[in-house]
Amino acid sequence: MQHDIDEIRQGLLSAIANSSSPREILKSAALKDMYSVIGTLEPSERAAYGKAVNEVKLALEAAVVAREAELADAAVEPIDITAPWDANSTMPDLMPSETASQHPLTKELEEVVNIFTRMGFEAIESRQIDDDFHMFGALNFPENHPARDGYDTFRTEEGFIPPAHTSTMQHRILKDGLSKLEAGGKIAAISYGRVFRNEDVDATHEHTFYQCEGVFVSRDATLGQMLGTLRSFFEVYYGQKLSIKTQPGYFPFVEPGLEFAIEKPASIGGKPGEWLEMLGCGMIHPNVLKEAGIDPTVYRGFAWGGGVERLVMLKYGIEDLRHFESGKLQFLRKFA
Ligand code: DAH
Repeated sequence: MQHDIDEIRQGLLSAIANSSSPREILKSAALKDMYSVIGTLEPSERAAYGKAVNEVKLALEAAVVAREAELADAAVEPIDITAPWDANSTMPDLMPSETASQHPLTKELEEVVNIFTRMGFEAIESRQIDDDFHMFGALNFPENHPARDGYDTFRTEEGFIPPAHTSTMQHRILKDGLSKLEAGGKIAAISYGRVFRNEDVDATHEHTFYQCEGVFVSRDATLGQMLGTLRSFFEVYYGQKLSIKTQPGYFPFVEPGLEFAIEKPASIGGKPGEWLEMLGCGMIHPNVLKEAGIDPTVYRGFAWGGGVERLVMLKYGIEDLRHFESGKLQFLRKFA
């Protein structure tokens, strides 16, 4: 019997290797016959025979996939990139454009930006490559200070840094805003974009993620204004009243520095007293203002910064951070 199976297997494999529609061969009568034999066997023989037939089937499927790839390669015509584009020709049917959609993070970032711009904040995208000064120096991290270790990121050979937080934009926002302060106005801006960290990736850590940063400076800015601003943002974003709390946190660029948490709403399964830390914040350190040419004896400011994925995960009950960068259509289509 084993002999028969081997013979059929060889015959089908060579048919697949020469076929222009190899998948059809999987439907062949010889394969079906092999299965129908199972019913005629003694129970003691069935397991071994069934296993052998299954192995044949797997080998044939692998051969079909290989043959299909071979055919697809042969079918690719070289592209003449110098050929003029015919604007009247129909679009090649490569992408189902009618089912395309925005990435959930793009969509949610638009919502975040929308809420803050309605509150009077200007919005600017953050940089994806920056330098040591904006990453550390301008933010009151002394040279060789251990606080730098909390932001383990990458460096290019030239010494540039893919930023580990959107706080790298603070100095630029402050410097550009100086003229507004001098004209009697205030600085109110958010900066959002991709940041990068040297992380081991798991369900709650990614090497690439998004943050949103806020900066506000006036003659009389207070922590109370900051907490009110943040509470309003979260309440609008989640569409409900929320309890908030803060606890001390250390960031060299703010004094005092705080960690800001919201109570997980009951509507999404939160229990009373279940707090979720959402961002870091505080009153901008006088050295950071000074570095940007702003007199800290005249002006005061507050700043905050936090991850965007966290915000979105909580809103939709997404359990794994890795989905966002995975490119999985099954995940992305849920937001289409
Ligand atoms: N940049 C900090 C981080 O990524 C978060 C942060 C904390 C931003 C305090 C701020 C702030 O603007 O004031 O860990």
